[in-house]
Amino acid sequence: MELTLTRPDDWHLHLRDGAALLTTVPDTARTFHRAIIMPNLRPPVTTVEAALAYRKRILDALPSGMSFDPLMTLYLAPEVSPSTIQKAVASANIQGVKLYPRGATTNSDAGVADLHGVMTTLETMAETGLPLLIHGEVTDRSVDIFDREAVFLDKTLDPLIERLPTLRVVLEHITTKDSVDFVKAHPRMGATITVHHLMYERNDMLVGGIRPHLYCLPILKRSSHRNALIEAATSGDSQFFLGTDSAPHAISEKESDCGCAGCYTAPFALELYAEIFEAYSKLERLEAFASHNGPDFYGLPRNTDTVTLIKKESIIPFAKAFGENEVRLLRGGEPVTWSLV
Ligand code: NCD
Ligand code: ZN
Repeated sequence: MELTLTRPDDWHLHLRDGAALLTTVPDTARTFHRAIIMPNLRPPVTTVEAALAYRKRILDALPSGMSFDPLMTLYLAPEVSPSTIQKAVASANIQGVKLYPRGATTNSDAGVADLHGVMTTLETMAETGLPLLIHGEVTDRSVDIFDREAVFLDKTLDPLIERLPTLRVVLEHITTKDSVDFVKAHPRMGATITVHHLMYERNDMLVGGIRPHLYCLPILKRSSHRNALIEAATSGDSQFFLGTDSAPHAISEKESDCGCAGCYTAPFALELYAEIFEAYSKLERLEAFASHNGPDFYGLPRNTDTVTLIKKESIIPFAKAFGENEVRLLRGGEPVTWSLV
């Protein structure tokens, strides 16, 4: 069995920086032509100059003979002013601004504590059409971690959309039925869905032992939410598109007393998405999700070349070099039934 698709893009990706790029860049470029590059470095990417310098470091790590177009983002912080937004809009290489609620996830301590403080920037984004990419979780300690996404929809996102109805919003790495329903109720919005949130539910992470390599944010939810995500991703609905949220951390940072959130999924992401779509008899919808809906939302051309998957089992490597460390791959050491040719 063989499946040929328009070359896909990854609409939510963490490549990290420095020597890690020598692993992460080829691992993504092997499959994807473009990716939206997350700006949560240390220090965060808050200027157009820093984003373009980071883009150059990414391209410097690309092996010759491979093609890859990194689509850069800025990290929303007080210094991202309306004039920064105007500059970003004028740059062909910047496609969005990322909102991290302060304290919500990895390297979010420079994020936004109160949206009112960045309202003029958001107004400029609404006027110019630059998309806001949202990590949709509240950080209030009194809210249970499994409820943080649903509470964000009510407390933060709904009022924001009400105030700025023309703002273009992508709700990133959605994990709940609440988010699927919210996105469908707002036809101008887009949403990315990761492969690990389609493959796993919280029992996989917590029953029979704790599996730190399945710990990511937003955290895996119960099976009814996973089913809603599968339904949305495989529906063909143009609001939902592929975003791996591939987020590598060194093994020692994951297998630790206080382990980091994030799964390294990019190297076999397309093969794993294909496995899920096939399991639900929706393989014919994979191309819309992986290759059409994302560029259509961002107003970019679809890719013109193709990739081919064949039904052939291979074993995902257990781990890889990652700078001076090693990183575990999602489902490392286990078989995947599709292979990219
Ligand atoms: C991401 C990271 O490590 O940068 N981690 C994660 O669990 N997804 C940040 C993020 O997207 O939340
Ligand atoms: Zn992410």
